[in-house]
Amino acid sequence: MTGLVVAMDGPSGSGKSSASRGVARALGLRYLDTGAMYRAITWWMLQRGVDLSDPEAIAARALDPVLTIGTDPDAPSVAVDGADALAPIRTSEVTAAVSAVSAVAEVRRRLVAEQREIIGAGDIVVEGRDIGTVVVPDAPVKIYLTASADARALRRTAELEGTTVQAQKAAMARRDTLDSTRRADPLTMAADAVELDTTALNLEEVVAEILRLIKEKA
Ligand code: DC
Repeated sequence: MTGLVVAMDGPSGSGKSSASRGVARALGLRYLDTGAMYRAITWWMLQRGVDLSDPEAIAARALDPVLTIGTDPDAPSVAVDGADALAPIRTSEVTAAVSAVSAVAEVRRRLVAEQREIIGAGDIVVEGRDIGTVVVPDAPVKIYLTASADARALRRTAELEGTTVQAQKAAMARRDTLDSTRRADPLTMAADAVELDTTALNLEEVVAEILRLIKEKA
């Protein structure tokens, strides 16, 4: 690997996506949203009526959907079997189902391989849950973003329509538990990652702090 790889991990609502795009833009790097890949597979399975309470049924179809994802931080794109998936992967139906799909080892094996292929020689900011621990364990810069449960729920509520902070807090707690207790590549902080608590920071401050860390490390 010759180019820079910035691994950005952390739970939902920690500000990962906005910060990752901001850093990629500031440094002229590519950007990969690995969560969008898990969401796209989930959307495809929901459409085909795969029983998502059955890990074996998920595993049996893990290789079938054909995924295409862009890496331009200013023009996100994701398609499955040629169908545009950008909007559908953000629905509450997909959000509620994605933890079950992303817990299946066959799905992870497939997507981790595709992610490594896209990362290639680097020059990219990669966001997810297992980037610094599994996908690119030798990434020169690893950031683990956190924020208080209230701050995370508030941010998510502002992004979505027809929900409340209380409902978001409960839904996020459920997803955090599933994501961090699953057997395959659970959400954990890499031993050599820098933890950044974004509770009291705005986006510009978070991006500035990450740029400072990159300068220091890379
Ligand atoms: O970041 P997000 O909310 O779009 O991610 C959706 C789900 O995908 C999340 O609940 C956990 C899973 N995920 C994962 O298991 N590994 C990743 N690298 C990225 C996301």
